[in-house]
Amino acid sequence: MCRHLAYLGDPVSIGSLVLDPPHSLAEQAWRPRRQVHGTMNVEGFGIGWYADGDPIPARYRREGPIWADESLPDIARVTRTRALVAAVRSASAGTESGAAAAAPYAEGKWLFSHNGKLMGWAAAAGAEMAWPAVPDDAATCQADAGPAGPDPDAAAVRRLAEQLSAAELLQLRSHCDTALIWALVVKRLRAGEPPAQALSGTVADVRAAGGTGRLNLLLTDGSVIAATAAGDSLCYREVPAGVVVASEPYDDEQDWQEVPQESVLEATTAGVAVRPLSSPIAIGREEMPAMTTVQIDRRLPERFFEASLRADVLAGLKATPKSLPPKWFYDERGSELFDKITRLDEYYPTRAERSILAERAAEIARLTGADTLVELGAGTADKTTLLLDALRDHGTLAEYVPVDVSESALVTGAERMLARYAGLTVQAVLSDFTEHLGLPESGGRRLVAFLGSTIGNLLPAERAGFLAGLRNRLREGDSLLLGTDLVKDPAVLVAAYDDAAGVTADFNKNMLSVLNAELGGNFDLDQFEHAALWNPDAEWIEMRLRSTADQVVELAAMSLTIPFAAGEEMRTEISAKVRRAGIAAELAAAGLAMRHWWTDERGRFGLSLSVLA
Ligand code: SAH
Ligand code: TRP
Repeated sequence: MCRHLAYLGDPVSIGSLVLDPPHSLAEQAWRPRRQVHGTMNVEGFGIGWYADGDPIPARYRREGPIWADESLPDIARVTRTRALVAAVRSASAGTESGAAAAAPYAEGKWLFSHNGKLMGWAAAAGAEMAWPAVPDDAATCQADAGPAGPDPDAAAVRRLAEQLSAAELLQLRSHCDTALIWALVVKRLRAGEPPAQALSGTVADVRAAGGTGRLNLLLTDGSVIAATAAGDSLCYREVPAGVVVASEPYDDEQDWQEVPQESVLEATTAGVAVRPLSSPIAIGREEMPAMTTVQIDRRLPERFFEASLRADVLAGLKATPKSLPPKWFYDERGSELFDKITRLDEYYPTRAERSILAERAAEIARLTGADTLVELGAGTADKTTLLLDALRDHGTLAEYVPVDVSESALVTGAERMLARYAGLTVQAVLSDFTEHLGLPESGGRRLVAFLGSTIGNLLPAERAGFLAGLRNRLREGDSLLLGTDLVKDPAVLVAAYDDAAGVTADFNKNMLSVLNAELGGNFDLDQFEHAALWNPDAEWIEMRLRSTADQVVELAAMSLTIPFAAGEEMRTEISAKVRRAGIAAELAAAGLAMRHWWTDERGRFGLSLSVLA
């Protein structure tokens, strides 16, 4: 099923690679010597090559056998190139036969070819059998044509197609298995993966989806060739002028090297490297140099801490009673103090949520099939590795998008993930999730995780608005994993927000330090004390800062003076506790359907998985 070839090196004529050798592609089209399945490669052919000074290759593709093209010998004789991909094609049953289906496929500087077959494609695509199948296809064709029964190969192909967005599916240029595989490769290239990884990752994607078939993939950008040996023959040869990678030797010289099955090859004019295809899951298992710098997508308004903080201060400190939104806890010190809180004996939510994740992560990966994990209010993302491990092991993980207002926490978490999961795309989003959710447009299935009961820190109306906004941005196939602390004995709750060591008190007062630093304030932290109260009607913990004296505080940057009476309290946060029915109703009101509900052993914390209603 197809033969292909790629070349990098000194300028040579296309003919010298494709037509002139004794066992050239022109001969391989009707008498391949090493092909694993099938013998005739006459449905189409194509050549893609690069001209000096132009990074975008030219292509010449035709339906029919390569030897029947009257014009090709002349063109091939006089056209010289430093880099080329050529292929002769045997169309798998049910795939289209036109020039558009002939390799090389192209996108920007990339040229791609697939020698092989993705089993179940014809059945999944509902393709008609226009011509008799080659023997190798017979079994599949019967399944294709037979009564609709469960066809695991077709189901795998559908799962793969589901990893593509509607836009990506609409961009497929031809109705065949190679176009689908190419779209998966392109997605990885667009995410910045190097060519060999994009190919091995795609093979892993196919297998993780349960797909089978022969997946000899070939890719170049004119300066590096990547190729997989996964089901059919592959070899290469290094010559003084350059390097050739080909399905089979095109002459009888002895310098051709066989590439072992289940390998990925990377060739430049400087040398050839062959590594095992890391199977079945590439991410985190591949030996890749870890990227060290985190790319941050900055979505906070300019001078967020001064500008947006001002608006909140005006609205909150001029009001009676005074209040401020909790996002202002989280400067660098605030994030550190929060991390400390999560390790306190009294603060059970983190441990409880972690135990649920440890038990359910694999199930969540299976249920969601997510390739992208978006984490709102990720913080330092301590628990998140449980989810990422599970998605990796499930074979779908491609991208992690932590979203937070705290740059220090965001970078800490993102860097850890980059180091832990080689090949993972990490897009850190510095944003206020009530304004910008950071959901990437690309990608197939997104799992949005909102952990730590952070949703409980929003007021009921804010919560409704937040959920509805999130719902509007989600697509079919996306899911929401929501962590919520549950109503319980008030003594347990209050202790969690008023620990003996006073860490929570420091955390609470840190908001005053943020005001001092950002707005030229003169809050005296010793003149305020921390209070945590259970409000049984609203079923939330309220955190307050209580003024211990009559005092006037100045915020110089805003020319604002704020009087506090002795004993006056300012609310800095609520932490709402929920019941299953209540949170299910809130989700439903926003157009989300809770599909799963898990709690820890002691019923302290709830984790729910929801989809579009
Ligand atoms: N998810 C972590 C951290 C929870 S603490 C855990 O479960 O342990 C809440 C996190 O949300 C902090 O990292 C804080 O910086 C972030 N955060 C709070 N309000 C936010 C907002 N409006 N937008 C984005 N992030 C916010
Ligand atoms: N989302 C966490 C919660 O509500 C945030 C938090 C934990 C917190 N402890 C805190 C906020 C103490 C302010 C003060 O549990």
